[in-house]
Amino acid sequence: MEPDRPDRPAPTDSEPDQEQIGLFALKVWGYKQGEMVSLLVHLGDRLGLYRALAGAGPLDAAELARRTGLDTRWVLEWLRGQGAAGLLLWHADDRFELEPAGAAVLADEEGSLAFAAGAFGPPSAPEFVDGLVDAFRTGVGMPYDRQGPAGVHRTERMLGPWTRLALVPRILPALEGVVARLETGGQVVDIGCGAGVAVVALAQRFPQSSVHGYDISRLAIERAAELVADAGVGNVTLHHAGAEALPEEASFDLVMTLDCLHDMTRPEETIGAIRRAIAPDGTWLVKDIRCTPDARDNLANPMAAMMYGFSVTSCMSSALSEPGGAGLGTLGLDPQRLERLCRGQGFGRFSQHDFDEPANLYYEVRP
Ligand SMILES: C[S@@+](CC[C@H](N)C(=O)[O-])C[C@H]1O[C@@H](n2cnc3c(N)ncnc32)[C@H](O)[C@@H]1O
Repeated sequence: MEPDRPDRPAPTDSEPDQEQIGLFALKVWGYKQGEMVSLLVHLGDRLGLYRALAGAGPLDAAELARRTGLDTRWVLEWLRGQGAAGLLLWHADDRFELEPAGAAVLADEEGSLAFAAGAFGPPSAPEFVDGLVDAFRTGVGMPYDRQGPAGVHRTERMLGPWTRLALVPRILPALEGVVARLETGGQVVDIGCGAGVAVVALAQRFPQSSVHGYDISRLAIERAAELVADAGVGNVTLHHAGAEALPEEASFDLVMTLDCLHDMTRPEETIGAIRRAIAPDGTWLVKDIRCTPDARDNLANPMAAMMYGFSVTSCMSSALSEPGGAGLGTLGLDPQRLERLCRGQGFGRFSQHDFDEPANLYYEVRP
């Protein structure tokens, strides 16, 4: 559904006619449809339906049910829903097909940068929604842990494919001198490391280096410990703590904050702590959401409404989870603001990288 554009004419005071009301209702019901399709995407991912369809050509419900060990009638209704949503081709003989582009987005978690199905979790728990209602009244939001393990899982699966497929092969080589330095052994810290996908990726690629992960989420650090153990890497140390716990001596060759500075209650203090802990010739890699200083300009982003939804439920909520929190939120850390904050904390060099990712911008920041 297209968001309103800033160049739309201003609303008039005249009474709406039935056609206008009908069109507006359709717009609203479109979001309800999105909610329902989202749940069916989650079920398709969780039940292995997309993976069974990928590369299989057209299948009917009985065959897909046989391949997945599921009930035919339920599978048929799911298939029809996915056909109606335009996610599967619905052939005239009632067989359904996941095309290659669809398979990249819905079935290829290991190999596709476009993989998205992992972002479609189950609906939020009622207690969590009650917490949001309270937050609107008190002004104080909730840290990530209030979303429970499902929140960590969703973030891991939403951001993990990018981290595995782009961070090491594509992003790090674009930063001056970083790869060579880590190959010979360096100190790395990932602040706001979440489930630790980046920590593991760097530890595997740079076995001579020591990699530290910090996060204030207990659930995230627990999950990161599992991933580290599964990967069998011995050069990782995890810390259930924020940036204020970083060592005071200037020791880190690479600092990373990936998709998390705008989630922090006190980003300025975090940046100050990074400035103290980074080596004099170290590099700080910031990945943050592509956004603009004037919020209305964000309407050019066709996913802006979803971004504001993420903000209310996760990012801004986390960034306001203490009284007086900065509350930047998903679309709140634009390049100009970040540069001001960095220079204010004593960073001298600041450059922006654009890897043509629709959602993110990258910054290379140095003392
Ligand atoms: C959107 S997740 C990103 C996780 C990870 N960097 C990734 O890219 O998958 C944001 C993370 O920032 C963490 N976070 C929020 N405030 C923090 C703080 N002050 N210090 C450290 N971590 C923080 C949250 O707990 C959450 O795990």
